[in-house]
Order: sequence, then C-alpha cells, then structure tokens
Amino acid sequence: MKNNRIINTVIVLAAIAASTLTSCEDPNSPGVEYMPDMYRSPAIETYVDYEYTDSMSARLPVANTVARGYKPFPFENTLEGYEEAGQKMKIPFQVTDEMLKKGGALYASFCKHCHGPKGQGKGSINHPAYSAVPSYSDDTKNRRGGRSMSELQVGHIYHVIMYGLNAMGPHAPQLNEQERWEIIAFVQALQGKQEEKETAVKTAE
Ligand code: HEC
Repeated sequence: MKNNRIINTVIVLAAIAASTLTSCEDPNSPGVEYMPDMYRSPAIETYVDYEYTDSMSARLPVANTVARGYKPFPFENTLEGYEEAGQKMKIPFQVTDEMLKKGGALYASFCKHCHGPKGQGKGSINHPAYSAVPSYSDDTKNRRGGRSMSELQVGHIYHVIMYGLNAMGPHAPQLNEQERWEIIAFVQALQGKQEEKETAVKTAE
C-alpha cells in the first residue's frame, strides 16, 4: 500500500516536471527562462541583422566626423598622393639615437625579412614574388616619379608604409604614427642620411 503511494507520487511529480520543463511546441525553445534579459540583451549588438533597411547594426560614422584618437592620412593611394606626401611630409621630431634603436627593432620585425638587415633588398624570404626587393641605396632612377631609391623623401616612405606597393603589402594597421616615423628614420640611417647616428644602426642590426 505504502509502496503504491510512493510510486503514484513519483509518477505525478514526473508528469508535472515533464509538462513544465519541456516545451512541446517549439523544439528550439530553451524552455522556462530565468531573467531573460541576461540571455537577450536589450542593447543592439554588433553585426546582428535588426532589419534596418540596409541591414547593418554596426552603423557608419556620421558624415564629416572623425573618431576620437584616429588621425586620417590626407594623401590618397595615387601617384599624385604619393608625390604630395613626398613634398609635404617631414619627420615631426628630432631624431635621437634612442628612436633609431626603436626604429631598428621595428624594422627587424616588419621589414628586414624582405629588405635585408642593411636595406640592400636581400632578406630571408626566398620566393619569386619577393625576389625584386630594391636596395634602399640604389641610384637607378626607376622608381615612381622617375626618382631612385636613394632619392626617396620621408613622405614617400610613409606613403608606401600606409598603402604598400605591388608585392609589398600595406603596414598601416600594424604600426602607429610614431612607429612609422621611427622606422623611416632607421631606413634613412641605412641610406646613410643620419650619418651622425651610425652607432645606433650598428647596435640595432
Ligand atoms: C613582403 C616583403 C616586404 C616587406 C615585409 C616590406 N617590403 Fe618594402 N618593398 C617590397 C618590395 C617587393 C618592394 C618593391 C615594390 C615594387 O617596386 O614593385 C618594396 C618597396 C619598398 C620601398 C620603395 C617604395 C617606392 O616608392 O618606390 C620602400 C621605401 C619600402 N619598401 C619600405 C619598406 C618598409 C619601411 C617596410 C617595413 C615597414 C617594408 N618595406 C616591408 C617588399 C617588402
């Protein structure tokens, strides 16, 4: 008698549990949700299609505004933009040995494998696509605008770091403004244009 009552109670409890905890209508339903806001954020999430007419939840910045901390590069990826950068850009600080050392370390991480330790164009990458890396000190006037590698101004180097050139990819996202200038100062030192700071170049090699 007593056993029967226990079995009945278990069956009734199981039936109640089954009907409350499972959802018969929708097999994908998570069932009863405790604090649904924890699962479903009331805020709009990135890259979720909320059925805006253009289906973008990540909205574009308002026209003519600039994000805080972002500095636009005013020269375009064209020959004109390249020439203009070469004319207008100057290293915005006095180059010190310490900066050249930092530039040397950055050069070793980002440029040396193609351009070689001394910028002679013989890096460790051994692939036909990269076999024509020009030496920074080459005097052949075969670069854009009819100049040679040794005649490149700092703005030209900055432009190529931002946009790349053929087999050389752009390095803008990897390097911030200060780092780009440090590398450029180091490249100039490799070209013998920072003579008084040769020691820093030697230690960075
Ligand atoms: C993947 C290999 C590779 C890497 C990495 C690389 N370069 Fe280059 N670079 C090249 C090649 C190849 C060229 C020649 C492109 C051409 O003329 O078609 C070139 C050209 C250049 C030029 C000449 C641009 C001109 O206007 O004629 C400069 C300056 C330069 N690189 C600087 C750098 C600096 C600084 C870095 C590091 C931030 C770097 N490169 C990283 C392969 C590379």
